[in-house]
Amino acid sequence: MMNKDERFEAHWRSPSNIALIKYWGKKKNQIPQNPSISFTLQDAYTQTRVVCERSGSSNNAVSLYLDNELNEDFGVRIAKLLFSWKKTFKHVYNAGIEIHTHNSFPHSTGIASSASGMSALVKCIISLEIAMGGDKELGAVESVSSFARLASGSACRSVIPYWGLWGNTEGIEGSNDFYAVGVEGLDDRFKAYHDDVIIISSEKKSVSSSAGHRLMVGNRYAASRYKQARHHMSELLLAMKLYDLDRFCEIVEQEAMELHALMMCSSPSYILLKPKTLEAIDRIREMRRESGIPVCFTLDAGPNIHLLYPDEYKEKLSLFIEEQLRPLAVDGRIINDHVGAGPMAIRGSFETKD
Ligand code: DP6
Repeated sequence: MMNKDERFEAHWRSPSNIALIKYWGKKKNQIPQNPSISFTLQDAYTQTRVVCERSGSSNNAVSLYLDNELNEDFGVRIAKLLFSWKKTFKHVYNAGIEIHTHNSFPHSTGIASSASGMSALVKCIISLEIAMGGDKELGAVESVSSFARLASGSACRSVIPYWGLWGNTEGIEGSNDFYAVGVEGLDDRFKAYHDDVIIISSEKKSVSSSAGHRLMVGNRYAASRYKQARHHMSELLLAMKLYDLDRFCEIVEQEAMELHALMMCSSPSYILLKPKTLEAIDRIREMRRESGIPVCFTLDAGPNIHLLYPDEYKEKLSLFIEEQLRPLAVDGRIINDHVGAGPMAIRGSFETKD
């Protein structure tokens, strides 16, 4: 953090995450219909720098540069958000902000830039507010996660190292619908899990996540989906405690397929899977069946495959990935990532970094 005269600057990185139990459907104020849990990624992150100039008169302006280019649409979205937070972040709101942001991963590749982007931005805004005289309590991890949730639901999980659980969950002390928490007692080997993203298509998504959540209102399967997600959550946590990878693979894949099934049967209906996504799924399942290697996939709200597997199988899977999955990827593109603490995890009280 730099504080020269009345110029303040905050600079943060925040990771993306990939959900194992999916958040799909929400109530007012970004309250999820069911709990979700995700792996925090290590190399897929957003790096954001926010500059604030305090002057005598209030400014309230927001300008946002994505990779050095002014992005008005995104700027307007952030201005609205900051306006809704103007009481809490009064110093920042009054000064106005200039945001410079960059993602470590390409656009439209099945890695959630809203999770990393919104959590990085929230960290910056909170740092600035504290530096300008605001309440230090805003920097508590619960508060950071909570503001990230308001910006984009899944972003609240990105401030938790390795895996973040968001939503009231039976048996998980402290779990709640407002901010994400870590989960103790899961097998440490998941901390070294791989997530290779097979880019089946890099076209822009035909339905935004926000529109997708809205489609759950009126979906005739909604109530049973929320029940099923809760059931999956308790089964998954047990599988992760016992390191039961067969069960882990089964639940994670069911979650991915349910997410897409819900989109297919909502009105209007969306099919985000591509023929090559289905081909990849077939090949992954066949590989698992034939080799006994516990490799599985999950999907975001898009066609790209997140291939999940334990570190110990990295060598054994490399030929399979090269020969069977890379040919399905657009321009052979695969992004190799893994579970991590995130490039700048927050622990305990909020510390600002340059
Ligand atoms: C399919 O968090 O992007 O990735 O709260 O409207 O910003 P908003 O939605 P968002 O939804 C993520 C949906 C998902 C599943 C998940 O990450 O849990």
